[in-house]
Amino acid sequence: MGLIEKIESRKAKIGVIGLGYVGLPLVFEFSKAGFDVTGFDIDPAKIELLKQGKSYIKHIDARRIGECKSFRPSSDFSGISGMDCIIACVPTPLNKNREPDMTYVFSTT
Ligand SMILES: NC(=O)c1ccc[n+]([C@@H]2O[C@H](COP(=O)([O-])OP(=O)(O)OC[C@H]3O[C@@H](n4cnc5c(N)ncnc54)[C@H](O)[C@@H]3O)[C@@H](O)[C@H]2O)c1
Repeated sequence: MGLIEKIESRKAKIGVIGLGYVGLPLVFEFSKAGFDVTGFDIDPAKIELLKQGKSYIKHIDARRIGECKSFRPSSDFSGISGMDCIIACVPTPLNKNREPDMTYVFSTT
């Protein structure tokens, strides 16, 4: 099955890297749309909280985590190879010249 067909039939496995202000809500949206989603983060404390169904972002209600039955939080990056689509949501802070620091993106890649 080709990638487009997998996406259209919701069979594509989605990987979101970086479960912060952007990545975590994105996980919920893909899960709500019927996709199997794995969320990866280098911070083991966040993965542990998510596994317990707890939120670490003030405006994200923990109930939303419990509602996402097709969401798996993981710190095991070997799982990336099983993903069909990978979306990186890691930080890109601005430096003193207001240029994005791409270090996190490069290290993720
Ligand atoms: N927050 C916003 O309102 C907003 C708006 C527009 C665009 N963005 C952009 O979205 C991107 C993500 O921003 P954010 O606010 O979600 O950041 P964030 O700091 O809230 O979350 C980033 C997450 O990535 C994790 N992380 C860092 N390095 C990693 C790595 N190598 N592998 C895996 N996980 C890693 C961190 O532990 C953290 O959980 C940035 O490029 C930002 O500029 C953010």
